[in-house]
Amino acid sequence: MESITLHNPLDMHLHLREGEILKTILPYSTDTFLGAVVMPNLKQPITDTRLAEAYYETIKKIANDFNPIMTIYLTNDLKKQDLQQAISKGFKILKLYPKGSTTNSSNGVENILDHKMQQILEIAQDLGFILSIHAESSGFSLDREYEFLKVFEYLSQTFPKLKIILEHMSDHRSIKVLDSFENIFATLTLHHITMDLDDLLGKGLNPHYFCKPILKTKKDKEMLLNLAITAHPKVSFGSDSAPHLLSTKLSSNASAGIFSAPFLLESLAELFEKHNALANLQKFISDNAFKNYNLSFKNQKTIVLKKQPCIIPESIACMDDKIIPLHAGKTLQWSLDKS
Ligand code: DOR
Ligand code: ZN
Repeated sequence: MESITLHNPLDMHLHLREGEILKTILPYSTDTFLGAVVMPNLKQPITDTRLAEAYYETIKKIANDFNPIMTIYLTNDLKKQDLQQAISKGFKILKLYPKGSTTNSSNGVENILDHKMQQILEIAQDLGFILSIHAESSGFSLDREYEFLKVFEYLSQTFPKLKIILEHMSDHRSIKVLDSFENIFATLTLHHITMDLDDLLGKGLNPHYFCKPILKTKKDKEMLLNLAITAHPKVSFGSDSAPHLLSTKLSSNASAGIFSAPFLLESLAELFEKHNALANLQKFISDNAFKNYNLSFKNQKTIVLKKQPCIIPESIACMDDKIIPLHAGKTLQWSLDKS
């Protein structure tokens, strides 16, 4: 095949940050995606409608044709009126970070199963929210997602009408939960379906492959890849592209996050072609998300990829520092047709 046409690509899990970093990285997503679910874990987390509106406007000012799907950072302080206000503005995704689980999660939820949280989730269910979860316990790194699965089982049964998304699924043991509970859905990143622990530490520690949840085993990678290339109907693409400045990536307390935004569609085209699955790419990159999140937008976007090599840059300059993209320096077989 010499060209691929994709309609309305959506990135259902994206970190856009703020200030200079936002300005630097946003074009990498807006060039190829119609919209994205924008994560709320800024330095000052997006914990209410007012903050979400301001963040939305900031993004729209830079990229008017892009559709930011805003998320509200779930805290114990959310009241019924706050949730009603969010829904009235069209902000229908709540993001749950267990306290301390990842970047800027110190305001996260301490006990997901406590009485206050249950009341909030009951209201969220009634109002038609979607609950997106960073699904990690504070246990042993490789078992954090697995240990969290019991929370999904409980929430799914207690709130059967609440759509619950297991973000960046990284463990093959989660697939059973996805398939057993009607209201559980998932997003998959490029890195968790193509890389494993050996990429992170097999040839020396590579901080650019350090993310949360951590890359896992070969079996996890292969089984998750299978969900993607078969376009499992409950799974959407969500890059979890999460830029950090090189200086913080290399510090002793290295930040978790992989900046994959610059070449996502090109990389996915190469991956799906390798597995004879190009026919499923449209569903994985867009159609499943439209259905599962009930989305509609005023505008459309068509992307054409052509069979022509492109090279991922070594780095992207930002704030007297730089950001290193995933697979910096690598040549890909597909490139964006800008004609
Ligand atoms: O690797 C990650 N980076 N995982 C997350 O959950 C957060 C993200 C970030 O914000 O840097
Ligand atoms: Zn994330």
